[in-house]
Amino acid sequence: MKAAICTRYGPPEVLKIVQRDAPVPEDDEVLIKVFAASVTNSDIFIRSSDIPLRFRIPMRLMIGITRPRNDILGEVLSGEIVQVGSKIRRFHVGDQIFGLTGFSLGAYADFKCMKETDSKKGCIALKPGNINYEEATSAAYGGLLAFQFLEKGHIQPKEKVLIYGASGTSGTIAVQYAKHLGAEVTGVCSAEKVDLVRSLGADKTLDYTHKDSISKLEAYDFALDAVGKARTSDLKEACRTRMSDARKFVSIDDGALILSSDRLNRIRELVEAGKVRPITDTCFPFEQIVDAHRYVERGHKKGNVAITVNRVSEQLPA
Ligand SMILES: NC(=O)c1ccc[n+]([C@@H]2O[C@H](COP(=O)([O-])OP(=O)(O)OC[C@H]3O[C@@H](n4cnc5c(N)ncnc54)[C@H](OP(=O)(O)O)[C@@H]3O)[C@@H](O)[C@H]2O)c1
Repeated sequence: MKAAICTRYGPPEVLKIVQRDAPVPEDDEVLIKVFAASVTNSDIFIRSSDIPLRFRIPMRLMIGITRPRNDILGEVLSGEIVQVGSKIRRFHVGDQIFGLTGFSLGAYADFKCMKETDSKKGCIALKPGNINYEEATSAAYGGLLAFQFLEKGHIQPKEKVLIYGASGTSGTIAVQYAKHLGAEVTGVCSAEKVDLVRSLGADKTLDYTHKDSISKLEAYDFALDAVGKARTSDLKEACRTRMSDARKFVSIDDGALILSSDRLNRIRELVEAGKVRPITDTCFPFEQIVDAHRYVERGHKKGNVAITVNRVSEQLPA
């Protein structure tokens, strides 16, 4: 099978496409033919290992001391189950799935083995039937982040909710989920992305690059920072300090992402009901994975960047 591997930390060009033996599923695993993967900030983080000095040793102990422990990167996938182990109960050959690979990574390849039960090595669920594989990677990654961290707000109808970073993979879904919960939503994004964020249902928008926006901040019942702690602005800091209850300003980096197939199932229901629409910026073919990493690294994508690993019509040797 083809796989994009990373055998040393560095710029996007360290990624190389090679041929590898396809994995063979254990009794408690399914074999997934991968149709699409996502290029996430976590993939960039692992590939570049551009970690502040004080965190470098603990992080490297986790991801690999001199190079990534698993050289096939990729933490988000969607695809079709092509083989099931004898102990598999939830899935069947032919099921279309979406999910995250957790610490096991490995989505940048034709095939990936995964367990059907949730663990730090991933979670999978049936993919929404009304979106394609590339969109499903956006739903899985952005959905799990947005749902988990918005749920910390226990949002009630008519509450005022601010989504900071409303134009990213998780932010675009957070805006829609908060609207679904009945909130009045203010989305924070740059001027270029206002139309997108409005189209997702945001009642108001604020441009984080404009100083004037600070004076337009209101009292919010809950604020979600959907871009994470590495990216900030005067507006974000002003919003945080003005919250009457500091616990109501939550960053998407406040705690580890929970890999939950229950949450994936809820995401599927809302996508199929038309309540949540995953946003795709660009789909790169697998051969252009280096370009995809360069693009995501610039930090300005709208929603998700996907990699088409296999086209649906393509037949692969099993
Ligand atoms: N808790 C966990 O375990 C966990 C796991 C995975 C990821 N994460 C966190 O989740 C974050 C979100 O990832 P994501 O993929 O959803 O976001 P993303 O797609 O990378 O967000 C990109 C968007 O953010 C906007 N942006 C860039 N700089 C900004 C700033 N200073 N203020 C406001 N908006 C800004 C960009 O548009 P403009 O440049 O046009 O504004 C772009 O549309 C990651 O970066 C990571 O910190 C956490």
